[in-house]
Amino acid sequence: MNSITPEKIKKKLKTGFIGQQLHYFEVTSTNDIAKELASLNAKEGTIVIAEVQTCGRGRLGRDWLSPKGGIWLSIILRPEVKARDVFKITFLTAVAVAKTIRKLFKLNVEIEWPNDVLIDGKKVCGILTETNIRGEAVDSVIVGIGINANIDINFFPEHLKKTVTTLAAEVKKEVDKEKFLHTLLKELKAYYKMFKENNFAPILEEWKRLNRLFGANVEVISFNEKIMGQAVNVDQNGALVIKLADGTIRRVISGDVTLLQEKR
Ligand code: BTN
Repeated sequence: MNSITPEKIKKKLKTGFIGQQLHYFEVTSTNDIAKELASLNAKEGTIVIAEVQTCGRGRLGRDWLSPKGGIWLSIILRPEVKARDVFKITFLTAVAVAKTIRKLFKLNVEIEWPNDVLIDGKKVCGILTETNIRGEAVDSVIVGIGINANIDINFFPEHLKKTVTTLAAEVKKEVDKEKFLHTLLKELKAYYKMFKENNFAPILEEWKRLNRLFGANVEVISFNEKIMGQAVNVDQNGALVIKLADGTIRRVISGDVTLLQEKR
């Protein structure tokens, strides 16, 4: 199975500040290490990457299975943004991942609000963005990206097999993780640059084009409340806009979505 090493990665990096500092461990969670490094003033663009995570974390306090074969990384960013705009970094990351998969494998990739990347409806990547605030300002943003690359689908417990996939399962062979990482970092750099230049609109357009939910009937569990309706848009805060059966509009800032019926 091909592995990633910092030497191998750095040799071919053409991403400027992204990845200049690169830490590679077998870790509990790359997000935890990145957070620690950020608090010690690690530079913007520092990457923590792991072959295995023993306590990988997902959204909403869930565990994230992170065996050998996956690509588990966290990037430290230091954007000058308000906390309410950090969702844009998650969005641009999802677009960068989706674009990378499209470019390398020509697969049917979609994004599912808020941050999942899917191939033919099955999750291949999750993104966990965590913000560190100092005083009033955003000090750093940790962007954790988990890609199910070369993991045997049988590794996943039965209840996940229907909803999860891996790159290897989709392309029916082991993928080159190093090449994937380089392509992804290049895409990320380009989108992050656009974001920093206040040019988020085209990224949002692309995110919307890749989105699989708009027009579909969904069920969202948000803070223990079940909301059912048609997903119609995302608003300027990254909230999912849902039209209920009686025409009322609800905005959901955080939650778990289930697609009930495809777009009409
Ligand atoms: C989700 O979909 O729930 C988000 C999953 C994020 C997983 C990645 S793997 C690298 C980084 N380290 C973690 O512990 N989590 C993120």
